[in-house]
Order: sequence, then structure tokens, then C-alpha cells
Amino acid sequence: MAEDIKLEIRNMTKKYKTGDGVENINLKVRKGELVTLLGPSGCGKTTILRTIAGFLKCDEGEILIDGKRIDHLPPEKRPTAMVFQNYNLWPHMTVYENLAFGLKLRKVPKQERDRQIKEILELVKMSGMEKKYPSQLSGGQQQRIAIARCLLLKPDVLLLDEPFSALDAKIRSQMREELRKLQIDLKITVVFVTHDQEEAMALSDRIVVMEKGHIVQVDTPANIYENPINKYVASFIGEMNFIELEDKTIAVRPEHVSVKSGEGNGIKGTVRAVMILGHYVEITVDSEYGIIKAYVPNESVVSYYPGESVTLSFSKFLEYPKDEKVVM
Ligand SMILES: Nc1ncnc2c1ncn2[C@@H]1O[C@H](COP(=O)(O)OP(=O)(O)O)[C@@H](O)[C@H]1O
Ligand SMILES: [Mg+2]
Repeated sequence: MAEDIKLEIRNMTKKYKTGDGVENINLKVRKGELVTLLGPSGCGKTTILRTIAGFLKCDEGEILIDGKRIDHLPPEKRPTAMVFQNYNLWPHMTVYENLAFGLKLRKVPKQERDRQIKEILELVKMSGMEKKYPSQLSGGQQQRIAIARCLLLKPDVLLLDEPFSALDAKIRSQMREELRKLQIDLKITVVFVTHDQEEAMALSDRIVVMEKGHIVQVDTPANIYENPINKYVASFIGEMNFIELEDKTIAVRPEHVSVKSGEGNGIKGTVRAVMILGHYVEITVDSEYGIIKAYVPNESVVSYYPGESVTLSFSKFLEYPKDEKVVM
């Protein structure tokens, strides 16, 4: 079966005068898929999103939606809509006016406009808020309206640039869940940008890990977690212990480290700290290879105490070459 590709970026390069930017970006996003661009600040996430939306012109390469090139089109002619971290709503307009604006431009008759606005407000759990001004809404509510306004335009691809970064943790994870549900229900194709690996893991069908203007790895959250392609990805996603040997680096997730009291076969160490983190406990061990952290289930905590001699073993680990340079 042929894959149903909604968005494709081919050999795209966009460099600013300073030399910063993104280089040789290749990416295919399937119809109805939520793909997240993940990487630290400055790695080029926003640059890619802006070239898709048309706010930036690529130096090289092509951008296609449904197999047709869109990279020559101005933003308003592209079947995309973008939500930013801040400044999304027009402050002097009510919620209704903010939502109606794009529909008016498209000459949707008033009755139909009102119907669509009512429907979308229900969908984003903001019914009855038509007359409010943005300043009367919380940050989370404002982003709901911003997303609603984009959805009314029925874009082929919805672009979200760190839309929840300015919200506090609890609202952020709630918004994340709501967006995911909405995206699945409406079968929308989304390119989501975040620097927060937890957010990317929770939300995405696939994650695009970026470093310094390049794509380093593209895969499902589970595959990226299980098999990070290099040390950079391994250290960026989740918690990881690194053990430097002469010829290679060993990487072990704390949940794959088992801790046994006393001496035995394995890595010798001394418990330095025991920290209860909810349903599991983090045990920090001073080992012959440096500090190693282990996560063990909460019920076994009584058996470990600081200063105790322990032996560590690994149920699973990865190996990386000493000097690596992996860029896709
Ligand atoms: N308008 C611009 N002019 C020059 N350099 C820029 C401009 N916008 C972004 N950059 C630089 O390009 C790189 C990528 O930026 P950006 O795409 O905003 O990264 P991210 O969104 O991942 O934080 C950074 O080094 C940034 O400083
Ligand atoms: Mg950015």
C-alpha cells in the first residue's frame, strides 16, 4: 500500500546571513499524523516551520503538500495555518471577532459563520466565550482560541510552534492531551515544535530529533527511546547513564540497572543517595565507573541505605563509538 503523504520536505536548506539556519532537511509527514520537531533552542525548529508556512523562503529544496509544490506561494495562498507561542489573538477584537475574521475574508455567509464558530468553540471547550476579549482569558484559553481560529480555516497542515511553552506545567499537560484528542478525532496533519522531550514523547506519532540545523533521527517515541541513534539523542531523550570505557561508551537507562546488596558479579559501588520519586526510587551509586543512577520499584526501598556496598548489573544497554559524528 502506498503511503499517504500529506507534507514532504525535500533537500531543504535555509540559511540566514549569519550562516545559521537549517541544512538539507528531508521529511515526510503522513496524512493525519502528528510529527514533532524536537531539539534545544536554536537548532532550527522555527526556521523549518516558517519555511512550510511561507514566512521564510528556502534557499534550496522543495516543499510539497499532497504532492504539489507550495514553496513558491505566499503564506496566505498555502493550505497551512500556524499557532505561535505568544501574541496569537488580536487584543482589540472579541473571541467571536477573532474567529470570524478569516471566515469573513473567505466570504462565508454570516449564518454559516456563526454556526461554524459555535461548533468550533464547543470542540475546544470554550462555548459561550464569544464576547470575551483575549485579556479576559487565561493563557491556556487564549491558545485554545488560537487553535480554534486555525482549525476554522481547515488547513491541510496545522503548524504549532511551542504553543504551550508559556503555560504552567499542569495546564500544559492538559492542553497536550486535548490537542492530541482533537487531532485524532479530526484526523488533522500536524507539525508540532517543542524543546521539551517529555511533551514530544507524550504527543507524537513520530519525533524528529534535531541538532544544530540538522535532522539527527526520525522515529516513533518508543523507538527513539529504545534505540537512540547516537549519544546526543540518548542524552536528550529520557534519563541515561553513560559509562566511558577506553574504546566505547556504554549507555544504560536507570530502569535497566539492577542493584543488589553486598558484593557479587558485576560493577561494584557504594550507595550515595536514595530518593523516593513516587512509584519508583532513584538510587545514586558511586561506582568504579563513576556515578550510576538506578530506578527501582518503591517497595524495595527499605533494603538500600547510603554507604551500603552494592553490586550493579544491566538488563539492557547500548554501545556507542567514542568519537561519533552522526548527521542524517
Ligand atoms: N531572522 C534571523 N536572522 C538570523 N539568524 C536567525 C534568525 N532567526 C533565527 N536565527 C538563527 O537560526 C538558528 C535557528 O533558529 P530557530 O529556527 O529560531 O531555532 P529554534 O526554533 O529551534 O529555537 C539559531 O541559531 C538562530 O539564532
Ligand atoms: Mg523556535
